Amino acid sequence: MQAVRDLLAETWHATYDSIYGVAEVDRITSEWHAYDRLRERLDRPDAEFILADTGQTIAGMAFARCPNGGRVVTLHQLYVAPCFQTQGAGTALLDEICICFPKAQSVRLEVEEANQRAVEFYRRRGFVRTGKAASLSDSGGQTLEFEKSL
Ligand SMILES: CC(C)(COP(=O)(O)OP(=O)(O)OC[C@H]1O[C@@H](n2cnc3c(N)ncnc32)[C@H](O)[C@@H]1OP(=O)(O)O)[C@@H](O)C(=O)NCCC(=O)NCCS
Repeated sequence: MQAVRDLLAETWHATYDSIYGVAEVDRITSEWHAYDRLRERLDRPDAEFILADTGQTIAGMAFARCPNGGRVVTLHQLYVAPCFQTQGAGTALLDEICICFPKAQSVRLEVEEANQRAVEFYRRRGFVRTGKAASLSDSGGQTLEFEKSL
């Protein structure tokens, strides 16, 4: 679990320091990625927590939920460590999430508007924007809501 926490901290800083600021990223990662918060996600019956690894190192992770045997998967986390990005791990994790819930009809996610690399990543994989909301942080930014039919 510590390796996942390290991956998340490194990837969050690389991705969000310029958007939220270093102190805010430190605060969010220590709170949201606390051991107990991550551990609790492993045991959820309505969720998938998957890793991409090289055999020696964890390269990326994804976490998604589909509550109540429902039709809508929510992708909560998709993170690939900076040194493993653009090598196919993100696509592989996303593809895996899309087949983990056979009854689901769509996948939803939220992405920070300023995180243009991720926005384009999802657009190129068929996600379309369905809404816009205030950012989860205090950055004053916007979060885009995306959805894709399965
Ligand atoms: C967004 C993110 C998950 C994408 O993961 P990734 O592993 O970099 O994605 P992939 O490698 O599968 O695809 C990225 C690009 O690399 C290219 N690529 C994939 N494999 C490749 C290879 N072997 N050689 C060269 N290029 C390759 C793909 O063509 C793709 O470009 P495209 O979108 O134009 O098709 C990753 O960049 C990331 O973790 N970012 C930081 C965290 C983040 O923003 N997460 C999302 C929060 S909502």
